[in-house]
Amino acid sequence: MKKDKSPLIGILDSGIGGVSVLKEIIKRNGGGNFIYLADNAMMPYGNKTKEEIQQRVTSLIDMLKNKYKVDKVIVACNTASSLLETDDNDIIKMQFNKEDTYIGTHLTKKQIGDNVIELKSLARIIENNINNKDKLDRIIKRYIDTLRLRELDSLLLGCTHYELVNDIFKKHMPNTNIINNSERMGLELLDYRDNSLNLSVILTKQSKSYQSLIFRLIKEEVDERIF
Ligand code: DGL
Repeated sequence: MKKDKSPLIGILDSGIGGVSVLKEIIKRNGGGNFIYLADNAMMPYGNKTKEEIQQRVTSLIDMLKNKYKVDKVIVACNTASSLLETDDNDIIKMQFNKEDTYIGTHLTKKQIGDNVIELKSLARIIENNINNKDKLDRIIKRYIDTLRLRELDSLLLGCTHYELVNDIFKKHMPNTNIINNSERMGLELLDYRDNSLNLSVILTKQSKSYQSLIFRLIKEEVDERIF
Protein backbone atom coordinates (compact mmCIF):
# COMPACT_ATOMS: atom_id res chain seq x y z
CA MET A 1 0.00 0.00 0.00
CA LYS A 2 1.29 3.48 -0.88
CA LYS A 3 2.02 5.87 1.97
CA ASP A 4 -0.07 9.06 2.24
CA LYS A 5 2.63 11.36 3.55
CA SER A 6 4.99 12.27 0.75
CA PRO A 7 8.70 12.72 1.47
CA LEU A 8 10.66 15.84 0.56
CA ILE A 9 12.69 14.72 -2.44
CA GLY A 10 15.86 16.40 -3.67
CA ILE A 11 16.64 15.86 -7.34
CA LEU A 12 20.19 16.53 -8.44
CA ASP A 13 21.67 16.96 -11.90
CA SER A 14 24.28 19.15 -13.52
CA GLY A 15 21.53 20.91 -15.46
CA ILE A 16 18.17 20.30 -17.11
CA GLY A 17 18.61 16.52 -17.58
CA GLY A 18 17.07 15.58 -14.24
CA VAL A 19 13.76 17.02 -15.40
CA SER A 20 13.20 13.70 -17.19
CA VAL A 21 13.50 11.90 -13.85
CA LEU A 22 11.26 14.38 -12.04
CA LYS A 23 8.59 13.86 -14.72
CA GLU A 24 8.88 10.10 -14.29
CA ILE A 25 8.36 10.41 -10.51
CA ILE A 26 5.33 12.68 -11.02
CA LYS A 27 3.93 10.19 -13.52
CA ARG A 28 4.32 7.31 -11.07
CA ASN A 29 3.34 9.04 -7.80
CA GLY A 30 0.90 11.74 -8.91
CA GLY A 31 2.95 14.65 -7.54
CA GLY A 32 4.99 15.25 -4.39
CA ASN A 33 7.34 17.68 -2.67
CA PHE A 34 10.48 18.41 -4.62
CA ILE A 35 13.61 20.49 -4.57
CA TYR A 36 15.26 20.41 -7.98
CA LEU A 37 18.96 21.29 -7.77
CA ALA A 38 20.78 22.07 -11.02
CA ASP A 39 24.53 22.50 -10.70
CA ASN A 40 24.64 24.85 -13.66
CA ALA A 41 27.84 26.49 -12.35
CA MET A 42 29.71 23.20 -12.91
CA MET A 43 27.85 21.86 -15.95
CA PRO A 44 28.91 19.75 -17.88
CA TYR A 45 30.03 17.03 -15.47
CA GLY A 46 31.00 14.70 -18.29
CA ASN A 47 34.30 16.37 -19.12
CA LYS A 48 35.47 16.82 -15.50
CA THR A 49 37.64 14.45 -13.46
CA LYS A 50 36.27 11.76 -11.18
CA GLU A 51 37.70 13.56 -8.13
CA GLU A 52 36.12 16.91 -9.05
CA ILE A 53 32.65 15.43 -9.50
CA GLN A 54 32.93 13.14 -6.49
CA GLN A 55 33.72 16.06 -4.23
CA ARG A 56 31.13 18.33 -5.78
CA VAL A 57 28.26 15.85 -5.72
CA THR A 58 29.03 14.76 -2.16
CA SER A 59 28.85 18.35 -0.97
CA LEU A 60 25.62 19.03 -2.91
CA ILE A 61 24.02 15.92 -1.40
CA ASP A 62 25.10 17.12 2.05
CA MET A 63 23.55 20.50 1.31
CA LEU A 64 20.25 18.92 0.24
CA LYS A 65 20.16 16.82 3.39
CA ASN A 66 21.47 19.26 5.99
CA LYS A 67 20.32 22.64 4.74
CA TYR A 68 17.17 21.75 2.83
CA LYS A 69 16.29 18.74 5.01
CA VAL A 70 15.27 16.46 2.17
CA ASP A 71 14.24 12.91 3.07
CA LYS A 72 15.47 11.37 -0.17
CA VAL A 73 18.06 12.35 -2.75
CA ILE A 74 17.63 11.27 -6.35
CA VAL A 75 20.92 11.46 -8.24
CA ALA A 76 19.29 12.17 -11.60
CA CYS A 77 22.62 12.17 -13.35
CA ASN A 78 24.35 9.12 -14.79
CA THR A 79 27.78 10.74 -14.72
CA ALA A 80 27.55 11.48 -10.99
CA SER A 81 26.00 8.08 -10.27
CA SER A 82 28.79 6.26 -12.12
CA LEU A 83 31.33 7.38 -9.53
CA LEU A 84 29.28 7.89 -6.39
CA GLU A 85 29.78 5.18 -3.80
CA THR A 86 27.18 5.13 -1.07
CA ASP A 87 25.29 2.69 1.10
CA ASP A 88 22.82 5.37 2.24
CA ASN A 89 19.29 4.01 1.65
CA ASP A 90 17.97 7.55 1.26
CA ILE A 91 20.01 8.09 -1.89
CA ILE A 92 18.69 6.66 -5.15
CA LYS A 93 21.13 6.72 -8.05
CA MET A 94 21.39 5.39 -11.59
CA GLN A 95 22.42 1.76 -12.02
CA PHE A 96 24.58 0.20 -14.72
CA ASN A 97 24.60 -3.35 -15.92
CA LYS A 98 27.62 -4.93 -17.65
CA GLU A 99 25.43 -6.75 -20.18
CA ASP A 100 23.71 -3.64 -21.54
CA THR A 101 24.95 -1.05 -24.01
CA TYR A 102 24.64 2.60 -23.02
CA ILE A 103 25.32 5.97 -24.56
CA GLY A 104 26.73 8.51 -22.13
CA THR A 105 29.31 11.14 -21.30
CA HIS A 106 33.09 10.85 -21.40
CA LEU A 107 33.34 10.42 -17.63
CA THR A 108 30.55 7.83 -17.53
CA LYS A 109 32.41 5.77 -20.13
CA LYS A 110 35.63 6.12 -18.17
CA GLN A 111 33.93 4.90 -15.01
CA ILE A 112 31.68 2.17 -16.39
CA GLY A 113 33.71 0.77 -19.29
CA ASP A 114 33.45 -0.44 -22.86
CA ASN A 115 29.71 -1.02 -22.78
CA VAL A 116 29.26 2.78 -22.77
CA ILE A 117 29.52 4.59 -26.11
CA GLU A 118 30.58 8.18 -25.56
CA LEU A 119 28.57 10.92 -27.27
CA LYS A 120 31.12 13.68 -26.95
CA SER A 121 29.65 17.07 -25.94
CA LEU A 122 26.04 16.05 -26.61
CA ALA A 123 24.77 16.83 -23.07
CA ARG A 124 26.05 20.38 -23.40
CA ILE A 125 24.58 20.71 -26.91
CA ILE A 126 21.16 19.56 -25.64
CA GLU A 127 21.40 21.94 -22.70
CA ASN A 128 22.07 24.89 -25.03
CA ASN A 129 19.55 24.01 -27.73
CA ILE A 130 16.60 22.44 -25.93
CA ASN A 131 14.35 25.06 -27.53
CA ASN A 132 15.53 24.17 -31.03
CA LYS A 133 14.39 20.60 -31.66
CA ASP A 134 15.08 20.79 -35.42
CA LYS A 135 18.72 21.57 -34.78
CA LEU A 136 18.97 18.81 -32.15
CA ASP A 137 17.34 16.40 -34.59
CA ARG A 138 20.05 17.05 -37.19
CA ILE A 139 22.90 16.83 -34.68
CA ILE A 140 21.65 13.64 -33.02
CA LYS A 141 21.13 11.98 -36.41
CA ARG A 142 24.78 12.72 -37.18
CA TYR A 143 25.91 11.02 -33.92
CA ILE A 144 23.70 8.01 -34.73
CA ASP A 145 25.10 7.75 -38.28
CA THR A 146 28.74 8.22 -37.32
CA LEU A 147 28.66 5.75 -34.42
CA ARG A 148 26.43 3.29 -36.35
CA LEU A 149 24.04 3.09 -33.43
CA ARG A 150 21.26 1.66 -35.62
CA GLU A 151 23.08 -1.69 -35.59
CA LEU A 152 22.16 -2.12 -31.93
CA ASP A 153 19.07 -4.13 -30.94
CA SER A 154 18.77 -2.35 -27.64
CA LEU A 155 20.28 0.84 -26.22
CA LEU A 156 20.08 2.55 -22.83
CA LEU A 157 20.13 6.33 -22.68
CA GLY A 158 22.79 6.70 -19.98
CA CYS A 159 22.54 10.47 -19.62
CA THR A 160 19.41 12.23 -18.45
CA HIS A 161 19.92 14.98 -21.01
CA TYR A 162 19.44 12.35 -23.75
CA GLU A 163 16.22 11.21 -22.07
CA LEU A 164 14.80 14.68 -22.65
CA VAL A 165 15.07 14.06 -26.41
CA ASN A 166 14.43 10.33 -26.51
CA ASP A 167 11.75 10.95 -29.16
CA ILE A 168 14.54 12.02 -31.54
CA PHE A 169 16.56 8.85 -30.83
CA LYS A 170 13.41 6.75 -31.31
CA LYS A 171 12.57 8.47 -34.58
CA HIS A 172 15.98 7.78 -36.12
CA MET A 173 16.39 4.28 -34.64
CA PRO A 174 12.98 2.63 -35.16
CA ASN A 175 14.41 -0.89 -34.96
CA THR A 176 16.32 -0.40 -31.71
CA ASN A 177 14.73 -0.73 -28.31
CA ILE A 178 15.56 2.64 -26.69
CA ILE A 179 15.34 2.62 -22.90
CA ASN A 180 15.71 5.52 -20.46
CA ASN A 181 18.18 4.47 -17.77
CA SER A 182 16.02 6.24 -15.18
CA GLU A 183 13.45 3.46 -15.67
CA ARG A 184 15.94 1.15 -13.99
CA MET A 185 17.05 3.32 -11.09
CA GLY A 186 14.55 2.06 -8.55
CA LEU A 187 12.05 4.91 -8.47
CA GLU A 188 9.48 2.40 -7.24
CA LEU A 189 11.24 2.73 -3.87
CA LEU A 190 9.49 6.11 -3.58
CA ASP A 191 6.51 4.47 -2.05
CA TYR A 192 3.92 7.27 -1.66
CA ARG A 193 0.91 8.81 -3.41
CA ASP A 194 0.32 12.56 -3.56
CA ASN A 195 -1.85 14.42 -6.08
CA SER A 196 -0.59 17.88 -5.21
CA LEU A 197 2.74 19.28 -6.25
CA ASN A 198 5.23 21.48 -4.48
CA LEU A 199 8.38 22.36 -6.36
CA SER A 200 11.38 24.62 -5.78
CA VAL A 201 14.21 25.01 -8.24
CA ILE A 202 17.68 25.85 -6.94
CA LEU A 203 20.64 26.76 -9.12
CA THR A 204 24.32 26.95 -8.22
CA LYS A 205 24.68 29.95 -10.54
CA GLN A 206 21.77 32.37 -10.42
CA SER A 207 19.88 32.91 -13.68
CA LYS A 208 16.23 33.87 -13.93
CA SER A 209 15.95 32.64 -17.52
CA TYR A 210 17.50 29.27 -16.68
CA GLN A 211 15.13 28.84 -13.76
CA SER A 212 12.13 29.62 -15.99
CA LEU A 213 13.44 27.16 -18.56
CA ILE A 214 13.44 24.36 -15.96
CA PHE A 215 9.91 25.24 -14.82
CA ARG A 216 8.74 25.34 -18.43
CA LEU A 217 10.28 21.95 -19.26
CA ILE A 218 8.54 20.40 -16.26
CA LYS A 219 5.26 22.09 -17.07
CA GLU A 220 5.25 20.77 -20.65
CA GLU A 221 4.22 17.31 -19.50
CA VAL A 222 2.63 17.98 -16.15
CA ASP A 223 -0.90 19.30 -15.95
CA GLU A 224 -1.72 22.87 -15.01
CA ARG A 225 -2.90 22.15 -11.45
CA ILE A 226 0.57 22.60 -10.05
CA PHE A 227 1.54 26.08 -11.14
N1 DGL B 1 22.70 14.68 -17.21
C1 DGL B 1 23.95 14.13 -16.96
C2 DGL B 1 24.06 12.67 -17.01
O1 DGL B 1 23.04 12.01 -16.82
C3 DGL B 1 25.19 14.94 -16.98
C4 DGL B 1 25.64 15.56 -18.25
C5 DGL B 1 26.84 16.42 -18.03
O2 DGL B 1 26.76 17.33 -17.18
O3 DGL B 1 27.86 16.19 -18.70
O4 DGL B 1 25.10 12.12 -17.21
